[in-house]
Amino acid sequence: MSDIMDKKTQLLGQQHFSDEFLERIEGKYPDLLSLIRRGLVVSHKDLNFILDDKEKGKDIYIYTGRGPSSGSLHFGHFLPFFITKKLQDIFDAKVVIQVTDDEKYLYSNDNTKSVKNFQEMALENIKDIVAFGFDPDKTFIFTNTQFIGNLYEVDLQVKKHFTLNQIKHTFGITDSDNVGRISYPTLQMVPCVPKVFNGFINEKSRCLIPCADDQDVYFRLARDILSKMKVQKPSMLFVGYVPSLQTVNEKMSSSKPETAIYLSDSDNNVKKKIGRAFSGGKETVEEHKEKGGDCDVDVPLNILKYFISYNEYKDTYEKYKSGEYLSSDIKSKTINTLNEVKKIFIDNRNNVSDETLRKFVTLNK
Ligand code: TYM
Repeated sequence: MSDIMDKKTQLLGQQHFSDEFLERIEGKYPDLLSLIRRGLVVSHKDLNFILDDKEKGKDIYIYTGRGPSSGSLHFGHFLPFFITKKLQDIFDAKVVIQVTDDEKYLYSNDNTKSVKNFQEMALENIKDIVAFGFDPDKTFIFTNTQFIGNLYEVDLQVKKHFTLNQIKHTFGITDSDNVGRISYPTLQMVPCVPKVFNGFINEKSRCLIPCADDQDVYFRLARDILSKMKVQKPSMLFVGYVPSLQTVNEKMSSSKPETAIYLSDSDNNVKKKIGRAFSGGKETVEEHKEKGGDCDVDVPLNILKYFISYNEYKDTYEKYKSGEYLSSDIKSKTINTLNEVKKIFIDNRNNVSDETLRKFVTLNK
């Protein structure tokens, strides 16, 4: 498994964190080091350039996003937004967050849903995102349907660099798909160009994009094209995958709701979902105590690891592996942890005033 992942990472041009890199950040960025050690972030592209720019006193900015395919984020989305907030603090950086209501409208197979429905889900998602504690003075959150006027000029320039063939093949679009699917991808690349956020982001700032590697396809193209447009290519930071409830080999995904636990789920729902999740425990308690649990395939453990400290995870892992902890112990620890995280999240969300929300969606603060 890890061999395959290593090869995949190399193929996609992602870089592991070398010892040299870890030494470079050790004294200066202990919180970044901790994200890496805990496996919350797993690889990168050109993160060195971000460190170089920070050393020279230059501004950088962070760009991430969300496709509002549901009215609530799930625990998989939790990771990139939690990390983006940390990065805002670590690098003292401005953040822009693209909410792609257009993308999800064009990709929805439910023809009863209108653009308005996706705009409404976008607003609910924005409230979720704000609950991660971003700085309202340094964070701009926008939906594509509303910000399109600002995106369009650069979008035209980016579009001119692509052929139909390139987009069709890269995104697996077929001749019977709607044409919106052909025109969408460049819009996700446009926020890598700082001048789009004129007045909020310094035009010379380098862009850093935290996301899981499912989004890398857009930014691989962006990195190529932007060099041709004489714009600095973005650096990337890849977060780990929170797995599906059915198997660690797939990610938790809102396009398959049965794989996911939503931040809007009730405590009882979380309990039920984790209760049914795929476990690495043995058939009987006796056998489990003798042979121990299979940590690599156990879904609750592989979700839990992102939400507890490294030391607590190591301890839990060892006790499960040795058979001291039963599958039911791992499940109840995961249920309690997720429900605690969810409670803090919901309290934060309920405390966001309309005025604060307005500040987040305003470009010129
Ligand atoms: P979306 O809404 O599918 O996902 C939002 C962010 O969550 C990450 N992600 C996950 N991370 C860990 N574990 C998971 N199970 C998991 N599932 C999703 C995604 O990689 C993403 O970072 N097209 C995009 C929206 C977008 C965007 C961006 C994302 C626009 N611009 C810039 C990242 C960066 C989308 O539909 O994301």
